Amino acid sequence: MLRTLAGREGFVRIGGDMALGAGMNLGNALDAPPGSEHAVSPRGRYFDAIRDAGFDTVRLPVAWAWHAAEAAPYVVEEDFFRRVDRAVDAALARGLNVVLNVHHYHQLTDAPDEQAERFLALWRQIATRYADRPAPVHFELLNEPRAALTAERWNALLPRALAAVRESNPERTVLVGPAEMNDIHALPKLRLPDDPHLMATIHYYAPFPFTHQGAHWVEGSAPWLGTTWGGAADRGAVADDLALAAAWAADHGVPMFVGEFGAYERADPDSRARWTAWVRECAERLGLAWAYWEFGTDFGAYDRATDTWREPLRQALLPAR
Ligand code: BGC
Repeated sequence: MLRTLAGREGFVRIGGDMALGAGMNLGNALDAPPGSEHAVSPRGRYFDAIRDAGFDTVRLPVAWAWHAAEAAPYVVEEDFFRRVDRAVDAALARGLNVVLNVHHYHQLTDAPDEQAERFLALWRQIATRYADRPAPVHFELLNEPRAALTAERWNALLPRALAAVRESNPERTVLVGPAEMNDIHALPKLRLPDDPHLMATIHYYAPFPFTHQGAHWVEGSAPWLGTTWGGAADRGAVADDLALAAAWAADHGVPMFVGEFGAYERADPDSRARWTAWVRECAERLGLAWAYWEFGTDFGAYDRATDTWREPLRQALLPAR
């Protein structure tokens, strides 16, 4: 199914039926730590809001590792699977593409050799579970490989994970990102397996002291508060970075998805809107699909308290609407 990029002109459609267009991350929902009080419940009305705003895609980060046995055969809790089923089907019912990933698997990134079999077992279960879902459901093998999961180790593990998916999903589009937290500059180290149904993905949070100013989980980020964004050099740097990603994708003959980009709520609102609009605009000019991080919490484009979009961010993302 060919998805449009929210009906806008000027988007180079390089991805054919794999184009994800304009996307929203439903973050801090199925990826939230068990018991987390700020978690977003993936309610139907949130999928309505995403569809009605004009998005094409919802990325669903899912922390499977927190809901699966530690010992072989590493069974995923059935109740958790049902929650994910409901979110996937709610998105599909509204005509949205879905990107379903493995998120927050820190045991794997800390100890890749010890966790490899469990990671493959998770993918066998996920892939089997969703094998009958239609093509708009995409799988993303792993959010932000990092730490001990170096580029070299990731290059060895990812073909095995892809093979585990292919046992039940021979033609499903699978997304793969580079090591070093899906950084654009790590793309040259990524070895893509030979497979006709792959898409590449990167995350974009540069300049980090702007996008993560005052972020409580980033040590040393308090002094960054007050960093603004928007000069010519700022814009040029973003355009150059994304051009590298587009060039790599063109060289490798794969569509590219900017699977996360966003600025934390403590950045000044005007700079945030400017940065968000510019990243989105550069991505579109280069033919890259994208998904904003994230829907309704600390980077949130949507205010769950009032059930309304934060207009400056919504307009930065979907100016035609
Ligand atoms: C993480 C979030 C974090 C975001 C921005 C995501 O990949 O899952 O916890 O807020 O990146 O740093």
